[in-house]
Amino acid sequence: MNLKDLYIDFFVSKGHKQIPSAPVVPENDPSVLFNTAGMLPLVPYLTGQKHPYGKRLCDYQKCIRTNDLDSVGDTTHHTFFEMLGNWSLGDYFKEESITWSFEFLTEVLHIPVNRLGVTVFAGNDLIPFDEVSYNKWLSLGIPEARIAKTTEDNFWIAGDSGPCGSDTEIFYFRSDDEIPKHFDVNDERFVEIWNNVFMEFFKEKDGTISPLPQKNVDTGMGVERTTAILEGVNDNYLSSIWKDVIDLIVNISDLPYEGHEKSMRIIADHLRTAVFIAADPAGIKPSNTDQGYILRRLIRRAIRHAKQLNIDINSDWEQQIAKVILNKYKNYYKELEENYNVVLEVLQNEKIKFNRTLEKGLKEFTKFTQNQQNIDATTAFHLYDTYGFPIELTMELATELGLKVDEEGFKQKFKEHQDLSRTASSGKFKGGLASNGEMEIKYHTATHLLNAALKVVVDKNVHQKGSNITSERMRFDFSCDHKLSDEEKQKVEDLVNQWIKSGFDVTVKEMAKEEAISSGAECMFIEKYPDIVTVYSIGDVSKELCGGPHVKNTSELGTFKIIKEEASSAGVRRIKAILE
Ligand code: ALA
Repeated sequence: MNLKDLYIDFFVSKGHKQIPSAPVVPENDPSVLFNTAGMLPLVPYLTGQKHPYGKRLCDYQKCIRTNDLDSVGDTTHHTFFEMLGNWSLGDYFKEESITWSFEFLTEVLHIPVNRLGVTVFAGNDLIPFDEVSYNKWLSLGIPEARIAKTTEDNFWIAGDSGPCGSDTEIFYFRSDDEIPKHFDVNDERFVEIWNNVFMEFFKEKDGTISPLPQKNVDTGMGVERTTAILEGVNDNYLSSIWKDVIDLIVNISDLPYEGHEKSMRIIADHLRTAVFIAADPAGIKPSNTDQGYILRRLIRRAIRHAKQLNIDINSDWEQQIAKVILNKYKNYYKELEENYNVVLEVLQNEKIKFNRTLEKGLKEFTKFTQNQQNIDATTAFHLYDTYGFPIELTMELATELGLKVDEEGFKQKFKEHQDLSRTASSGKFKGGLASNGEMEIKYHTATHLLNAALKVVVDKNVHQKGSNITSERMRFDFSCDHKLSDEEKQKVEDLVNQWIKSGFDVTVKEMAKEEAISSGAECMFIEKYPDIVTVYSIGDVSKELCGGPHVKNTSELGTFKIIKEEASSAGVRRIKAILE
């Protein structure tokens, strides 16, 4: 059995319910591009909302962290990873959490106790030393010399505000050297494998901290790192998780891994992340903004490194690699099965697009840099605009030659050309927790009205396939086999506006999933929902399974306007709309 299955079985045996992994693109949360931790989709439940699955949950969650995308290429960095997590939502706390972590590591994974070191919160002005965790570790047989106390490193929060608390971290001695008696947190031979956060506080944006209505446990363990440790390899890419992908790249390039590690790791990592983004229900396609830009950067950087390995970039190399990845993960994540061909198409189309200009762009780059000249803003922008080089790619090429790029100047030019990614300007790259602003909530309610109106005007079998909301617009994907006529679009728009004017109340009710479905409530993926669900109704025109939040009355929405209707993928249309 692999680590994921062992983990889930273990926590289920301790009374936890397994919840499905949330999509990599957060639903209705425009403040982050991707889910970065297992707890992010659970924020409402950590702050008091009742989870329909109960108080003990566990899962493996797809996570994407792009802040150190450019570090990928070494032995440990990945842009996509799976995080194992178990949660107590106001149920058990420190003692049980630590006991079970210890039991799982030593009795299920058979990790020797003398390879472990732990850290606990040392205490500060606000929160005292975590004596409970300290004593628990001692009682389980971790010697005093292997329990380190820190303050900053033992407090966890996602971003700047949200649920948070002190934590205890578990480290593994990953080296053939003699194991030191004393655990020194700065000794890099000890690597962190598990983080148990005791979330009992909420931090506001202004920095104030107050107790949460309940004491939670939030834990996270990285699948890639832990697997590498269990298999005794010092390079994550040599573990069983990557072996088939790396072997295939070795095969395609006809080069050994040794000496070509960096490019091979980048190709493996970036294509895996691209597969998961392209397969996500949000329907992301390569573009110059938001998640689409990350997808584009990943694919283009992978292509550049494939070229570096002398792979014939016009061959089907990326399809072969993507298929290995899709087949490997599709039993765990059904969207990979469902969107198998979409993923392959996305990769191929983007490759064809970039391959047209890559060669010429590289020539241009080489010509410009032959006198060891740093790259000015005009050249960087020319490489972007004419040859499709993401600025990060130009910077990577320049760094390899020991040259600099005028990044600020490039950004300025980008702005001047009015092509600045909305993401960058709204600060979304910074990450952080879900914040449902007033506009996002309005757009969220408007998606329900649009969904209902499409059923009336177009076809009662229209179903939602995805949605994405920012404070400026909504995007709604739905099943439909034809382009909407102007008349259909007008009717949909009119109907939504009529419902807005009617001032319908938005009401919420908890009910059993089966009851909700048989009462005619709309839902996107039935199997994704827990047994007890929340159902939002708008007058009697819309009834949907949904987590909220919504406006109280439709009259708050203003005027609804469709700005675009286009194809999203086969059999799926996309509407972009605004509220004025
Ligand atoms: N949320 C914690 C982390 O991501 C467990 O490390």
